[in-house]
Amino acid sequence: MENHYRAEPYKIKMVEPIRLIPREERIKRIIEAGYNPFSLRAEDVYIDLLTDSGTGAMSDTQWAGLMIGDEAYAGSRSFYHLERVVQELFGYRYVIPTHQGRGAEQVLFPLLLHTPGQIAIGNMHFDTTKAHIELARGCALNFVVEEAFDTDSLYPFKGDFDLQKLKTYLDATPREQIGFILITITCNSAGGQPVSMANIRAVSKMARERGLPLFFDAARFAENAYFIKQREAGYADKSTEEIVREMFSYGDGLTMSAKKDGLVNMGGMIALKEDENLYRRIQAMVVPYEGFPTYGGLAGRDMEALARGLREVIEEAYLAHRMGQVERLGRWLDEAGIPIQKPVGGHAVFVDAKKFLPHIPFDQFPAHALAVELYVEAGVRGVEVGSFLLGRDPETGKNLQSPVEFLRLTIPRRVYTDNHLRVVADALISIYKRREQISGVRFTYEPDILRHFTARLEPVSGDAFPGEETNE
Ligand code: F0G
Repeated sequence: MENHYRAEPYKIKMVEPIRLIPREERIKRIIEAGYNPFSLRAEDVYIDLLTDSGTGAMSDTQWAGLMIGDEAYAGSRSFYHLERVVQELFGYRYVIPTHQGRGAEQVLFPLLLHTPGQIAIGNMHFDTTKAHIELARGCALNFVVEEAFDTDSLYPFKGDFDLQKLKTYLDATPREQIGFILITITCNSAGGQPVSMANIRAVSKMARERGLPLFFDAARFAENAYFIKQREAGYADKSTEEIVREMFSYGDGLTMSAKKDGLVNMGGMIALKEDENLYRRIQAMVVPYEGFPTYGGLAGRDMEALARGLREVIEEAYLAHRMGQVERLGRWLDEAGIPIQKPVGGHAVFVDAKKFLPHIPFDQFPAHALAVELYVEAGVRGVEVGSFLLGRDPETGKNLQSPVEFLRLTIPRRVYTDNHLRVVADALISIYKRREQISGVRFTYEPDILRHFTARLEPVSGDAFPGEETNE
């Protein structure tokens, strides 16, 4: 039975039509978009793997929850439902909803970073997280293991902290220079890679010994828990709920973008284990930024759907299928010789564009060039995670070189079937066969900050899409 094909643990009750526009039109659209998939209209995209954030499908139970959401401004019943689920699942007493993950970061980080230049230590901070640390005048440092950058290494927990490096740093740095430690589970920027329980425990011990607050960036907590169950000795027979509970027992609190493992289209939160004083200060800050503390930027119905989503996401039939599907896409690509980050992460397959397109230098953004090509080939939208995203050195103005050049194929939850993913795999396989013909890209317009969202580019070589008339 174990070897039998595992189908979706749900059947489909409602559908949304999608369409593949003809190739000539795709070429036109991507040129109009300045060769930047972020600027495409979603309706011109056939299979959208830009992100797994807020793009999932809710269950019938969640949709039913929307109808009975309590829209009271203060003390909503749906808030208390959410609070109860968070308390049960994570063992954290205080819950403050926010409109999404970055809303939580915006409120919490200034309260943890007391003096300018204080350090926020992470395995690998997500970009908005780093941005909010810096907006709070802190400094974001990453301590992820070296294996994270070696896409061929089969290290099972590539989101782990390098404990030796962390210890050396903590021993050499005065306590007051450090604001807090943040463990991102799973580690998105390294390829949706998990952090092991042993590593969480060890980081927690170091934090305790030094009196440092320890938080989780918990966007993909359930996927991390399931990786622990699959890969870490001693956890195979534990339920994901038990594993979740243990993970969070090592920390003081969390921020969460609920748009991922909350299984909702919008939402987030801060939760704290027991620090009542910090809770009061967060309550005071959340009012001007997000809203009254029992709704924090969410409608009552959103909180009701989230309370239900948090229970559904830890169901093992769901997780086995979800992560099995992502793994399957990775396997199809790997079997065709396409270089990817291995083992495959929880929410996305990360194609190693440095190896896929070795002839394109980092400052002609190989992973971005591949994203453009994939859209033209099959109407599939992926996203670059590499030097294009990283930006320029603020002092020298030079393009920074990322240690990785990834094309992220991010799989929304409960949205696409394996047939859709087969289209994605086939498209990449046919591009791989003619990879030498693909040109790098350069800017025609480059914004000063967060350039990847609105930049306009063009191919470095004139013949962008061989064999095609572009009418330009
Ligand atoms: N932390 C992590 C690990 C994330 O992946 C994200 C968002 C956030 C925080 C911020 O949450 O979007 O709700 O404000 N990641 C999305 C992505 C955008 O595409 O990976 P948010």
